[in-house]
Amino acid sequence: MTVPTIGIHDIAMATGRYVMDLAELARHSGVDVNKYYIGLGQVAQTVPAFDEDIVTLAATAAQQIVARHGVDGIRTVLLATETGIDQSKSAAIYVQDLLGLPAACRAVELKQACYGGASALQLAAGIVARDPEQRVLVIASDIAKYDIDSGGEATQGAAAVAMLVSADPDIAVLEETAGLYTANIQDFWRPNYRSTPLVDGKLSIGAYLEAVEHAWKDYEARGGRGVGEFAGFCYHQPFIKMAYKAHTRLLEMKGIEPTTARVHSDLAPTTIYNRVIGNSYTASLFVGLLSLLDHSDDLDGRPVALLSYGSGSVAELFSVTLAPGYRRHLRTAENQAAISRREPISYEKYRSLRELTLPEDGSEVVLAAEGHNPFRLRGIAEHSRIYQAVHAY
Ligand code: COA
Repeated sequence: MTVPTIGIHDIAMATGRYVMDLAELARHSGVDVNKYYIGLGQVAQTVPAFDEDIVTLAATAAQQIVARHGVDGIRTVLLATETGIDQSKSAAIYVQDLLGLPAACRAVELKQACYGGASALQLAAGIVARDPEQRVLVIASDIAKYDIDSGGEATQGAAAVAMLVSADPDIAVLEETAGLYTANIQDFWRPNYRSTPLVDGKLSIGAYLEAVEHAWKDYEARGGRGVGEFAGFCYHQPFIKMAYKAHTRLLEMKGIEPTTARVHSDLAPTTIYNRVIGNSYTASLFVGLLSLLDHSDDLDGRPVALLSYGSGSVAELFSVTLAPGYRRHLRTAENQAAISRREPISYEKYRSLRELTLPEDGSEVVLAAEGHNPFRLRGIAEHSRIYQAVHAY
């Protein structure tokens, strides 16, 4: 029996309604804007409308896949997030319902900070390996939000990426070798009673870099490819400069001089979207992959390394090989439109959005229609979020 290749058959993204240039944040904070533009490598961040959440972003990304491929064979939806809307019920169930996915389906939410999306992808591959007739919908969806006037505020953002994992994929074959690293560390976490994370930013940068080393060593020990074989390197990008630090660390470790030109040429195409979207936690790595695919010359048959890091912490180094003709299946125009149609807002508008809160006592609220995506949060009734399909994508 020939074992089929397994990987990403389709991939689509979504982001939110508004965009705030970090010059607006600098105007408020009095910080030199180049700290954000150059020091962090971030130019802007998506700010969601009040009627957008991780479910509406996830459904918006996944609907594009369902429109192209239908729902047949989808028996699993894995939704990775670290900004969940419920302590118990999976956000994947709302997406399953909004998209009309079969009831004969397992719908589950996965959590391990920003790493959850990569873990969902690997678990999906396992399901397809067991039954190649099945297809798994993997979604990474997050809204990154830090305390007002904290260092992390410049690294906020929001996005969702949906992927259809199947046998004989049109876009990218997931390679089997993966390097893993888990370490119990308090660099970033969000206790149940908080809406924003507690974060030791400097510790998280060091922990990420250490995890890169360990994950790479494990990958090598398991017979992975050499650095020189990869045509691209996608890192989790909490802010763009973090990917630059990570890649510099990897090159140093391999005895390759990490010149500015080398690091830039290895990473630049992966950073174009995240630079203006900001951090999207679980989705960030895959937004980076989309940015690479949408901005590269032909990568047919070539391997790309992906490094996922989720604070707390878990890291995984894995790789994909681009399928022949993958470019025909991309959604470059749609991805760019999702970014460019965001409405620029001032710091004051951002702040007013941050101050809005949903009721926490079960009282009903109906939200004004604000977002421009095909799904919206209509309101809250009896402690439940009520979603609405507004229009086709
Ligand atoms: N022009 C150019 N660069 C400037 C600058 C200016 N005017 N002012 C500062 N910088 C640079 C700093 O030198 C630094 O660069 P370096 O790290 O290469 O040395 C960078 O801008 C950030 O400055 P710093 O003073 O370290 O920022 P900060 O104390 O506000 O913290 C984070 C930055 C990333 C720690 C903070 O945004 C954070 O906590 N983010 C959330 C957590 C996170 O994303 N962790 C990443 C791993 S998951």
